[in-house]
Amino acid sequence: MNEEMKDEIREVLFDEEAIAKKVSELADRIDRDYKTGNLLLVCVLKGASVFFADLIRKIKRPVSIDFISASSYGMSSETTGAVKIDKDLDYPVEGVDVIIVEDIVDTGLTLKYLTENIRSRKPKSLEICTLLDKPARRRVELDIKYSGYVIPDEFVVGYGIDYAEKFRNLPVIGVPKQL
Ligand code: IMP
Ligand code: MG
Repeated sequence: MNEEMKDEIREVLFDEEAIAKKVSELADRIDRDYKTGNLLLVCVLKGASVFFADLIRKIKRPVSIDFISASSYGMSSETTGAVKIDKDLDYPVEGVDVIIVEDIVDTGLTLKYLTENIRSRKPKSLEICTLLDKPARRRVELDIKYSGYVIPDEFVVGYGIDYAEKFRNLPVIGVPKQL
């Protein structure tokens, strides 16, 4: 891995091999669960982009893809859960099986908003797939059908997940030395 970034990682939680194995397992489950119909995978930008690119290539059945980008309103985002959509889906999802793909679920407020928003567009079904689940800080109830790893309440980076836009291209997932 990139030497400069490697020096800034205190502990590697999941290496490339572990991540690849987990991504394949999730893809296999999705293949088993969706035998027919139109399946749309929605990538939540930017964090899920690396996971998304790997996941869709491990899924064997045909899928469509779309992208959505959301951000929190100001400082009170954690308590109010006020989220705004910065880039919306390109196509309607009515009657389509949809899986929202996220990098990490923390308080759950972002996904709560996104699932409610997308559900109002009447998809045939709607599920969540996240690589990482950090349940310690959950504020809202979320039904996560596909979850890669449950992790403790630590700030992690890598494999698309950033700290101030850094570390997204780190191929492993780890805990940075300094925040
Ligand atoms: P939530 O709305 O609190 O669930 O926030 C989820 C979003 O916060 C994720 O999509 C990440 O962008 C960010 N986030 C949560 N935990 C971490 C972390 O440990 N490292 C980096 N970003 C995180
Ligand atoms: Mg994210």
